[in-house]
Amino acid sequence: MAKKKPVSGVRERLEQAATKGMKNAHAPYSNFHVGAAILLTNGKIFAGCNVENASYGMTNCAERTAIFSAVAELGPRIEIEAVAVTNDKGAPCSPCGACRQVIFEFGPNATIYFQSASGPKQSHITALLPEGFRLK
Ligand code: THU
Repeated sequence: MAKKKPVSGVRERLEQAATKGMKNAHAPYSNFHVGAAILLTNGKIFAGCNVENASYGMTNCAERTAIFSAVAELGPRIEIEAVAVTNDKGAPCSPCGACRQVIFEFGPNATIYFQSASGPKQSHITALLPEGFRLK
């Protein structure tokens, strides 16, 4: 049996977790399977997939699934250090606007790893979401 390739860097670890999470995607309408993984400042990793619905607007993106899973398990005092997004088409895919705002809520200093039109890219959440909303 072939050995699994060892991964070391944060990006690689998160992309591997995201791709594993993607396997559970429910995407019969778009046929675009997405996985996301988040690294918390406590070192824990949570993964998620997109979960679509016949009422399309009810769809939950992979990023939000991962974040909501982490909150459901650990409570709201989590801090996101990094996020990775993968998909089954190798297509450019950065978090949508709604997900950027949800990432910002729990990770105002987060780094986002994603595939851009010009290849792999990493961006600070505030570069993707300037003037993110906070209620304080
Ligand atoms: N999607 C995600 O899960 N994350 C993204 O970053 C972009 C889009 C999903 C939502 C929907 O299920 C499918 O991709 C097509 O938009």
